[in-house]
Amino acid sequence: MVEVGGRYLALLVVGLAGASLALAGGAVAQVAATKIIDPAQARSDYYENCGGCHGITGDSAPALLPSLRGRVGYFMCDADARTYLIRLPNVAHSRITDNAELADLLNYVVFDIGGASAPAASPPFTAEEVTRERPNALSDISLVALRARLVERVIRKCRAPASLRLLYPPKPGTSGG
Ligand code: HEC
Repeated sequence: MVEVGGRYLALLVVGLAGASLALAGGAVAQVAATKIIDPAQARSDYYENCGGCHGITGDSAPALLPSLRGRVGYFMCDADARTYLIRLPNVAHSRITDNAELADLLNYVVFDIGGASAPAASPPFTAEEVTRERPNALSDISLVALRARLVERVIRKCRAPASLRLLYPPKPGTSGG
């Protein structure tokens, strides 16, 4: 009897965890839907211009470049960190000349690929913002130091995980955070 009860309880817990994950996923998808003007265009722009390096799901590990999936949204919680996303060489110098289109691509990156890491209250990128910041593209030299500074700031200010210091989060089950 006890065993059966235990099994039911375990099933219930697994069921609840699954349901809350599904709810969280749904909420993220809803947020993304309100921030991206043309999701189909933004997604195909991402595949074409960014996916070759970052992976089509934003998960580039083990390549030596930062993984975007579930973490790029943390940069939205600070004005300079948000601007950093526009000033990245591969973003600022992207082949996409229409700044509204580039803004929407970035919205796809932070709110869809970034998922729950993007604060739901962050306003989406706009064409005006991209037009203003795009000329301030970072060089490869300034970039690493700037990222390190901004990461410390969003860890302090927004409780981003310490693993944001790394290019991608450690695999589950390995040590480190
Ligand atoms: C040629 C490969 C390549 C392409 C294409 C590329 N990236 Fe990157 N990306 C990188 C590398 C490498 C970095 C690490 C910083 C650097 O050296 O620029 C990076 C950094 C980033 C970061 C910063 C993440 C962090 O945690 O600091 C974001 C966001 C990003 N890229 C988005 C994009 C977007 C959006 C596009 C498409 C418009 C794009 N990238 C295209 C290679 C690429």
